[in-house]
Amino acid sequence: MQLSDFDIDLFLRDYWQKKPLLIRNPWNDWRNPLEPDELAGLACEEGVETRLIVQSGGSWALEHGPFPEDRFGNLGAAPWTLLVQAVDHYAPDVAALLDPFRFIPNWRIDDVMVSYASDGGGVGPHFDQYDVFLIQGLGKRRWRVGQRCDDSTPLRPHADLRLLADFEATGDWVLEQGDILYVPPGFAHDGVAVGEDCMTYSIGFRAPSRHDLMVEWTEHLVADMADDDRYADPDLTRAVHSGEIAPAAIDRLHAMAIEKLLDRDAFARWFGQHSSMPKYAEADWRPEEPVTVAEMQALAEEGAVLLRNPASRFAFLREADGVLLFADGNAFPCRSVAAALAERICAQDHIVLDPSLSDAIELLAALVNQGSLMADDEEED
Ligand code: SIN
Ligand code: CO
Repeated sequence: MQLSDFDIDLFLRDYWQKKPLLIRNPWNDWRNPLEPDELAGLACEEGVETRLIVQSGGSWALEHGPFPEDRFGNLGAAPWTLLVQAVDHYAPDVAALLDPFRFIPNWRIDDVMVSYASDGGGVGPHFDQYDVFLIQGLGKRRWRVGQRCDDSTPLRPHADLRLLADFEATGDWVLEQGDILYVPPGFAHDGVAVGEDCMTYSIGFRAPSRHDLMVEWTEHLVADMADDDRYADPDLTRAVHSGEIAPAAIDRLHAMAIEKLLDRDAFARWFGQHSSMPKYAEADWRPEEPVTVAEMQALAEEGAVLLRNPASRFAFLREADGVLLFADGNAFPCRSVAAALAERICAQDHIVLDPSLSDAIELLAALVNQGSLMADDEEED
């Protein structure tokens, strides 16, 4: 699925991470992929991350879900909005909204958040740390985009909502169904529903902070370091001054500290596994009985279809003799037929099997058994 009249190279060159862009309905035939009732149903489920924001006067009150089923009938006239995270994990038609944005690598994609708002509802003026495409699904929303913000930008007192103290609008549009607003990280934005039944789909990206990257990479490195791997100085000579930490000692200590950090190949393997860990563990597709290699072979011969778990994350690293596939935190070295299959799995939401895949049967069985793929006819089980 491609957006019409949308020049990907031009977008990446002039807008991505640089400035906001309004894209008037680029879909061939926009259809809202989720009913408001279905969204409300998800917001009542355990394990789904959801928030409700109710406005009264000039202030915003935040509640976290799951919500009781009668909560949305009791909201009164005050403008409100419901926000549900990772709806793509539960609704395949919502997951399909990601397809036109696959020109951005999988590992940068976070999830699709869906909001529903009553007339006048919204989350208030704020900025995010991530790029986002805001797709107007149903109804209308007025979006204002403003100044660039950072950690020193003044906020209003309500710490959870991180609302901006000031807003200087540089763009102001009413989005209708199918319209898309791209907002780069750090730009102030404020969306207010115009009329009832306003639904917005946020295609959200992720970008690791240096802090998290360093903490998580070093946590991984230290996990298997031995206690007897220590500083040693069998070549020690008489100290010039007993108080001095000699330059040679600092050189040796510094080398000890950074040696493993500099292993780029080990970093690449760790990052592939780490970044493919699922965000939420709820959508568990593991079969009750593990599938055997022989059963998988039979499925390949029948031309069965395997679906990709929408909550699973897939990516690969190219290597000299194939690819290293990452799926849900595990790594699979793949050669020849399996390498080509691994690339297909990363690019498609389903795989049509055929007998030529017999050299990749073990890979397929492993992916089914860890719940990353599932045979189509089992989906409803
Ligand atoms: C919304 O859908 O109302 C909020 C999306 C956002 O501003 O990031
Ligand atoms: Co936002």
